[in-house]
Amino acid sequence: MDYPFDAIVVGAGGAGLWAALELAREGVNTAVLTKLYPTRSHTGTAQGGVCAALGNLEEDHWEWHMFDTVKGGDYLVDQDAAEVLAREAIETVIELEHMGLPFNRTPDGKIDQRKFGGHTSNYGEAAVRRSCFAADRTGHMILQTLYQQCIKHGVRFFDEYQVVDLLFEGGEPAKGGRAAGVVAYRVADGQLHTFRSKAVLLATGGFGRMFRITSNAHSLTGDGVALCYRHGIPLEDMEFFQFHPTGIVGIGILLSEAARGEGGTLLNDKGERFMERYAPKLMELAPRDMVSRAMYQEIRAGRGIGGKDYLYLDVRHLGRKVIEEKLPDITEFARIYEGVEPLTEPVPVQPTAHYAMGGIPTNVSAEVVRDEKNTVVPGLFAAGECACVSVHGANRLGTNSLVDLLVFGRRAGRQMARYAGTVERPGPIADATAPVHAQLEAIRSRESKGESVAKIRHELADVMMDNVGVYRDGRLLTAALAKVRELEERNGAVSIGDCGTVFNTDLLEANEMGYLLDLAEVTVVGALARTESRGAHSREDFPERNDARWLKHTLAYRGPKGPTLKYKPVSITRFEPKPRTY
Ligand code: FUM
Repeated sequence: MDYPFDAIVVGAGGAGLWAALELAREGVNTAVLTKLYPTRSHTGTAQGGVCAALGNLEEDHWEWHMFDTVKGGDYLVDQDAAEVLAREAIETVIELEHMGLPFNRTPDGKIDQRKFGGHTSNYGEAAVRRSCFAADRTGHMILQTLYQQCIKHGVRFFDEYQVVDLLFEGGEPAKGGRAAGVVAYRVADGQLHTFRSKAVLLATGGFGRMFRITSNAHSLTGDGVALCYRHGIPLEDMEFFQFHPTGIVGIGILLSEAARGEGGTLLNDKGERFMERYAPKLMELAPRDMVSRAMYQEIRAGRGIGGKDYLYLDVRHLGRKVIEEKLPDITEFARIYEGVEPLTEPVPVQPTAHYAMGGIPTNVSAEVVRDEKNTVVPGLFAAGECACVSVHGANRLGTNSLVDLLVFGRRAGRQMARYAGTVERPGPIADATAPVHAQLEAIRSRESKGESVAKIRHELADVMMDNVGVYRDGRLLTAALAKVRELEERNGAVSIGDCGTVFNTDLLEANEMGYLLDLAEVTVVGALARTESRGAHSREDFPERNDARWLKHTLAYRGPKGPTLKYKPVSITRFEPKPRTY
C-alpha cells in the first residue's frame, strides 16, 4: 500500500505526540507511526519530573537553568540550544497544565516543584526546586495528556507499524536529496507499506538495550538513529551515554532521582553518606555522572553492601505521607522486584544505563543536519532522545529529557508545518520497498542452523556494560571494538525460529539487532578516539577534561570499514568552560 501524507511522525512518545499535535492544529495531513501502541511509548516510564524555572516555591530564573544545563553537560552543550530549552521550558509546562496534566500542587494551588541533581539557584549556590511533577509518574501523565490532545485534533495513528527504511527524493542526503517518506512493516501481517510525505520526523527514542543493566524498555533499539546512519547522516557525540545512579539491582528498572530530590540518601556498607566525599555541596544531588562514578568507587573500595556491587538508597526518614504522595510507584517497584519495604528498609541500588546524550544531529528547529557545516537535510526532522540538538552535551541533568522532548517536539511540529506549506508532496518512488524487503527476506530465508539473535544480544550487552560503561580505558575499549565487530560478522548469519508473517517478532528483533550493533560500534569508536574524560565519558587512562583538544562535538560517518570521525565546534554564547565542582 502507498499512503500519501504531508507529514509523517515516527514514534509516539512525548516528542512525536507534541509535534503531531502542532501539525494537526495547523491543518497538516499527518500520520503517526509507532512500533508499539502510543501509550506504551517509553516517555511513559519517565518518573521524577519535567524541569522549568517557574519559581513556584523559591526564586528561580531560566538563566540559572541554562547555566546548570551547560555546566551539567561538562561544557559540551551548545549554548544557543540550552537557552531555547531553558526559556521555552516555562511555556511548555504551562501549556501542559492547560491541557489538563494533573501535576502535584502546592497548598496554594500552584504546580509543585522539587529538587533534582545539578539544578541550582544563583549559578551553583544550592539545590533549587525546579522539577514539576505528577508524583513519580510524570512521563506517564505527559503521554496520556498529549495522546488525548492528538485524538481530539484528529491525528491519524498507525499502531504497530515499524519503520524499517527512510525514503529520499533527488538522491541520498549527502547528495542533497530531500526526505520523501518512510517504509513501514506492519507487525500484524508482515506487509511493507510506503508512506510518502513532505516532512518526516524521527522521534524513535534511545538505544539503551545495547547494555546489560538498563532502564530502557526492550523496544529501545535506536531504529531512527541507525536508519539515519545507514543513509549517510553522521551521528553526533555517541560516546556519551548516561548511567543513572539508582536502578534496581540486576534488572536496571529506575528508582527515580526524585527519591533523592525529596531528601533520600545514598549509603555504603558502613552506613556512610559517601557522597560527602565526592560532592560536598550538593551531595546526592550532584549530577548523575558524578554520583554513578562515586558509587563505582565505593564498590571498588569494597564498601558495596556486603562487599557486593550495589549500595543503599534510604528513604525511611521521609515518612509515609511523602512516600505515598510523591514516590508511590518507585516504592512499589522496590517491594515487587526487590522484596524490600522502603518505609522500613533501605533499598539496594546500582547504576543503570539510562540515556543517550548523542544521536541524530539537529539544529534548534529540529531539522536534521548532515555535516560539520550544519547543512540541513530538507524535510527531515528529529526530536527527543534520538536527536542530538546538544542541550545535554556530555551529561544530561535529570528532568531535562522530558523538557527536551517537549520543547523540541513542539518546535519540530511548527517547523514541519511551515516547511510542508512550501513544497510539493514527493511522487511515488519506484521499488521503494525493495532494499528492505531483500534485507528482511535474507534473514527469514536462512537455514535454521545459525546462532540465535538472543545469543548475540547477550554478548553485546555484556561487553558494552563491562567495557564501555561508567569507567572506560583504551584497553577495554579496544577489546570492545573487536568484540562488536566479531558480533557484527556473526549477526550476518543468525537464524530465526519463526519464518512466518504474522507477528513475527523474531524477524523484527533480528533486524533491530543490526541497529544496535551499528550504534555500539559508533559508540566505541567515538569513545576510543576521545582521549579525555568529560561528563559521562570517563577514561581512567585520560582522567582530565582537555578543552584545548576536545571541546568539540564528534560526528561519526558510516564508511566501508566502520565509522569515520570528524568534529565540529561547540556553540558557546554565555558561559566559558570552568572546572566542574559541586
Ligand atoms: O530519576 C528520574 O526520575 C529520571 C528522570 C530523568 O531521566 O530525567
